[in-house]
Amino acid sequence: MTQQPVFTVGNVPVFGDAILSPMAGYSDVPYRALCRAYGSAMHYTEFVPVEALLGKRVHERFRRRLDTQPGEHPMVFQIFGNNAQMLLEAALRIQEWGPDIIDINMGCATRKVSGRGAGVGMMPQPELIAETFKLLTNHLKVPVTGKIRLGWDATQENFLEIGRILEQNGAALIAMHGRTKVQKYGGEANWDAIAQLKQAVSVPVIGNGDVQTPEDIDRMKAHTGCDAVMIGRAAIGNPWIFARQQRQDLTIGEITTAVRLHAREMVNYYGEGPGLRQFRKHLKKYFDNLAHIELDRLLGTESFAEFEEILGGVETAVPEAIPLKNLQAVNV
Ligand SMILES: Cc1cc2nc3c(=O)[nH]c(=O)nc-3n(C[C@H](O)[C@H](O)[C@H](O)COP(=O)(O)O)c2cc1C
Repeated sequence: MTQQPVFTVGNVPVFGDAILSPMAGYSDVPYRALCRAYGSAMHYTEFVPVEALLGKRVHERFRRRLDTQPGEHPMVFQIFGNNAQMLLEAALRIQEWGPDIIDINMGCATRKVSGRGAGVGMMPQPELIAETFKLLTNHLKVPVTGKIRLGWDATQENFLEIGRILEQNGAALIAMHGRTKVQKYGGEANWDAIAQLKQAVSVPVIGNGDVQTPEDIDRMKAHTGCDAVMIGRAAIGNPWIFARQQRQDLTIGEITTAVRLHAREMVNYYGEGPGLRQFRKHLKKYFDNLAHIELDRLLGTESFAEFEEILGGVETAVPEAIPLKNLQAVNV
């Protein structure tokens, strides 16, 4: 029996409704491999500035951001900039590197990006957005999509206008984080606004913001009618959310298995020392609130053999089959 896609982006089928958010510093090749194994249905790269893609030589740091693993589909390459022609030139260049989809970031709220009219700084410039999408959809072979916020601030929530402009200019999908630029990550994400956007456009909509548990995935879908849900912060150290598994139901054995797998992917991809160093931020999240773990020793090592030895020690010290929610009661 052939599996039916949940939705399609242009001609690209997507076979699931929970998707890892693009996150600079996190959604790299190794972590995407892990999230995909647990069910994340589509993947975005970390965002890349167009300026870094237009020179003769693309700096290793940014070239890496557009690395993919063989078979990693659908794969979305995300770029940002403040000039339609430059966005087009960068998109044409990276199209040759094999993405299924190219996405324009119109959501980044950091001052460095939005302050110069890129990221969410594009949202107060509807003409720039229209020009960009018109150019890109006319010249690219792959579908072009956009990731937006509600707008700049509470007085300029123009996501409906921008949504319509994107659709009219050929965007194949809109992902929306339900906050303004000024809110950054404060307050609550506005899911009503995601519902309004979904009503206003006929292209697929991905809802984003504050999905923290497997129940939230279905809650956001029911509340907004969105086609899929994008999960960012709550997926760090918690790839199980894509399998709709509760963190509290996991056993230490399940966590150490994922940690070992992820650390190995990091070491294979970045090399032993750099891989383990970059893994530290993930490691802290995997073992969040678990007093039983020798986290400092794991964080301190630069040798994968030693890392595995310490992890093995964790596995023998803690009863493997007991879910986290019952662990507090066990004397280990
Ligand atoms: C560390 C970090 C890095 C991020 N990097 C990107 C990025 O490169 N591109 C992007 O579109 N959004 C980026 N975001 C925003 C997320 O994709 C997402 O929109 C936001 O975290 C809200 O979703 P959440 O509540 O599930 O975390 C980043 C967020 C975080 C926390």
